[in-house]
Amino acid sequence: FQPKYLDGRRVLITAGPTFEAIDTVRGLTNRSSGKMGLAIAQAALAAGAQVTLVCGPICLPFPAVHKLIRIVSTEEMFAAVKDEVSSSDIFISVAAVADYRPAEQHSFKLKKTAADITLTLIPNPDILQYVASLSNPPFCVGFAAETDAVQQYAEEKRKRKKLPLIVANNAVEAIGTNESALILLDDDGSHYLPRADKNAQARLVMAHIAGLYDKHKG
Ligand code: C5P
Repeated sequence: FQPKYLDGRRVLITAGPTFEAIDTVRGLTNRSSGKMGLAIAQAALAAGAQVTLVCGPICLPFPAVHKLIRIVSTEEMFAAVKDEVSSSDIFISVAAVADYRPAEQHSFKLKKTAADITLTLIPNPDILQYVASLSNPPFCVGFAAETDAVQQYAEEKRKRKKLPLIVANNAVEAIGTNESALILLDDDGSHYLPRADKNAQARLVMAHIAGLYDKHKG
């Protein structure tokens, strides 16, 4: 049994990695499995929310969300989020978005030669920062995976991106695994969730989000 504390709330979630093409067959990505994003989507559904999931390339079965938008690149994820954000009450940015993309994306397969080649990377848009700075933003939740000074860096991100809540974890322990320990950082301070299965963690995170959201709505 789970209380329907998000009954009818429209929740927009990003999940998984993004993939930035170099040419028609090659590209840059990261080791995000999408497990946490999918677990968050499942927990939001169980809490009664209407869920839209924008997801990068992953190999896992999807929960029965109300709307599933599959994308590849960060720019595609950004476009999908822009389309959906005005009809969302809560935005949970779980995706491990690529911070950079190749300046050039070739529409043919680059030929191998003996010479060194240089890849020029340009910054991607920060989707969460864009959403959080809209004039009437949804309630925004970020995720932060760090390899050191986890809490400090995550809190800096929360402040910089003006988020009511950020969920921090250790990148080495969390990326691509089934379990993680989490730190929830909000205006009241820090809350520790000891190492557990991502599905169990997602339910706790969702309960915390629902509590803050209700307070925020006043
Ligand atoms: O800055 P950093 O990537 O560590 O911030 C993490 C948070 O920002 C995550 O919630 C992630 O989904 C989001 N993000 C984003 N667009 C980016 C980079 C990160 O939405 N280009």
